[in-house]
Amino acid sequence: MGEDVRKSTVSIEELTISYGSDLAVEDVTLRFEGPGLVLILGPNGAGKTTLLKAILGLLSPVKGRVLVNGVDVSGRPDKAGRYVGYVPQLFLAGSRYPVTPWELVESSLLLYRRRWPRVFAGVRDRESVASTLKLVGLHKDSWFKSLWSLSGGQRQRVLIARALVHNPPILVLDEPLSAVDPAGKVSLARFISKLSSAKLVIVTSHDPTLFLPYTKTVVLLNKRVYGAGRPEEVLTLENARLVYGDAAVLVREYVHISNGHIHT
Ligand SMILES: Nc1ncnc2c1ncn2[C@@H]1O[C@H](COP(=O)(O)OP(=O)(O)OP(=O)(O)O)[C@@H](O)[C@H]1O
Ligand SMILES: [Mg+2]
Repeated sequence: MGEDVRKSTVSIEELTISYGSDLAVEDVTLRFEGPGLVLILGPNGAGKTTLLKAILGLLSPVKGRVLVNGVDVSGRPDKAGRYVGYVPQLFLAGSRYPVTPWELVESSLLLYRRRWPRVFAGVRDRESVASTLKLVGLHKDSWFKSLWSLSGGQRQRVLIARALVHNPPILVLDEPLSAVDPAGKVSLARFISKLSSAKLVIVTSHDPTLFLPYTKTVVLLNKRVYGAGRPEEVLTLENARLVYGDAAVLVREYVHISNGHIHT
């Protein structure tokens, strides 16, 4: 499928998206260039998922547009999907859909093959599925078990494999650490960050500290953009308070987002 390090740019231009009359994101302009890790921070309801879905072409803007590698993908998931892999927030949670890791990853590859037969003409399905499951660190013993017998961290790795199997230059992950225990979170955050050495990886998280050491660009979002750039420039207490209010506190020299408790 060619080189892993490929062109990967996302340009969001004056983007406004609403659900009915409620504006979810308003006048957002951002530009990301890969490889590297982009971390989108903001409280519940800030519009993080909405922004990611717009990059995937899943939502039609009221105003503005999203370009992925120069292609306008606004409202066009068929165009975005060629370049962007997606790990959604709380995938299939609660449904217990009976599926194995192998089936989930293979079905994703077959879907891409059907959409872009020429791009995938030289790809061998079984090898691609196996190498992607290996890449995400899932032991062979688990490949043909129920997805639901796996730990939260392993399951999240399978979902990353599903998004990676067509080797997209851009990877979008919505709250990938949310259903994972503390030890699993550390290694998963490290794994996701490592992927950003070759790809543009865009991630949202309520555990920003785990990603910050690897982050190239941080975005502070609360409907509007309150800051975007290098973490040390953007993550000031002043900016964090604009977005998180009193939940933003200073721990030594680092800004910390507390879990709803106001530290005094
Ligand atoms: N399908 C929908 N229909 C109607 N309103 C929606 C829909 N999805 C999101 N919203 C609203 O849009 C706003 C932004 O939601 P969004 O899910 O993008 O926020 P978020 O930052 O991802 O939040 P969280 O941290 O809880 O995941 C919220 O006010 C939410 O209620
Ligand atoms: Mg969300």
